[in-house]
Amino acid sequence: MKIMILGAGAREYSIALALKKEKKDLEFIFVPGNGASAKLGKNVDIKDMKELALYAKNESVELCIVGSEAFLEQGVVDEFLALNLKIFGPTKNAAMLESSKAFMKEFLQRHKIKTAKFINTSDLEEAKEFISRLTPPIVVKADGLCAGKGVIIAKSKEEAVQEAAKMLSGESFGAAGRKIVIEEFLDGFELSIFALCDGENFVLLPAAQDHKRLYDNDEGPNTGGMGAYAPSSLASKELLERVKSEIVAPTLKGMKEENNPFCGVLFVGLMVVENNPFVLEFNVRFGDPECEVLMPLINNPLELFMAASEKRLDSFKLDLKDEFAVGVVCAGANYPFKASPKSEIRVSSVPENSHISYAGVSLENDKFIADGGRILVCVGVGESMQDAKKRAYELCENVSFEGKHFRKDIGYQVN
Ligand code: AMP
Ligand code: GLY
Repeated sequence: MKIMILGAGAREYSIALALKKEKKDLEFIFVPGNGASAKLGKNVDIKDMKELALYAKNESVELCIVGSEAFLEQGVVDEFLALNLKIFGPTKNAAMLESSKAFMKEFLQRHKIKTAKFINTSDLEEAKEFISRLTPPIVVKADGLCAGKGVIIAKSKEEAVQEAAKMLSGESFGAAGRKIVIEEFLDGFELSIFALCDGENFVLLPAAQDHKRLYDNDEGPNTGGMGAYAPSSLASKELLERVKSEIVAPTLKGMKEENNPFCGVLFVGLMVVENNPFVLEFNVRFGDPECEVLMPLINNPLELFMAASEKRLDSFKLDLKDEFAVGVVCAGANYPFKASPKSEIRVSSVPENSHISYAGVSLENDKFIADGGRILVCVGVGESMQDAKKRAYELCENVSFEGKHFRKDIGYQVN
């Protein structure tokens, strides 16, 4: 059975590892993949989405799983569906829940789903008027995709007006900032929740916690994510039930009513304010590195992706391990600023219940070469957070490449 996975990171690698554990005789095609995925299956690099769908048809690919959002913006799902191919991910229109913050905010408002008070505008005078009515800090966001950098938390009204002006003029983020969202600041704790959706029904995965800053104690610049763990004890059963009934179910219902049904991963970025879940943002794909700690906890991921893409989640039963997973990202010396020198990756041994998900890796003379920003993720699984953490960190020590950097405190929230 041939499975295609779209993306080049540790996220996509971890999906393949989990599927392989469930069913041995799978053949993987990664697009474009990385040096390590070339050893799990084969890599192909096709940039045109129509061409990619035709290739999948000719290769008799039975399921395509979209990892990276880059493919969604290009309408990969629409092209696959047009050829009657099975694909797990949202159409280009449904992906607007991530690609346009203005669309997302108005959608939430239309369907009475809790989110920070806001306005969408392209007009500086209107922005100023709304800012004058808020109490700082004030949040200013570019509408379009800015690789996670389009959000400014302004400490004063003056700063908020300045930032709004810079975005609207195109100075800060080009076209992505010509439309902006201004919103009130929510004070609480953040949580990432992942719902796998088939257009009508969904399955909620355990809550995962990312660590965005480069250094320990949440210091230093923001990154794509330096490590994660799941499940997070911050997500009580009661809170998860509320996320289901107050956020995920009305979102799926609303999208369906608007003839824009949502299939794929709904990644809900939550701010929990006095026990009330508010939507900060939606992403329409797995988080990276959150995916790397969720996948090892699912015993039937292939069945799950199949059921979601065949719209059968209503009768699907998720088989979860009653365990914890911790993932620690090992990055190159210059991450997240610039490329790091290439060097060979050596792994002295891999302890039981741990594994590596590879990301910025190339293959040279059959050797793995560190070649990118986030190089790999060391994942430990165990019956307690402590066990999982210990295994992940043992593995980090067993890995070497030039300039290896990793946070020493992933999962510090839970002892
Ligand atoms: P976003 O891309 O919208 O999730 O914003 C990125 C980050 O900015 C979030 O993870 C929060 O830490 C912060 N943030 C965004 N919106 C708000 C808000 N309304 N109140 C407080 N923090 C926010
Ligand atoms: N780790 C956060 C993200 O993938 O957006």
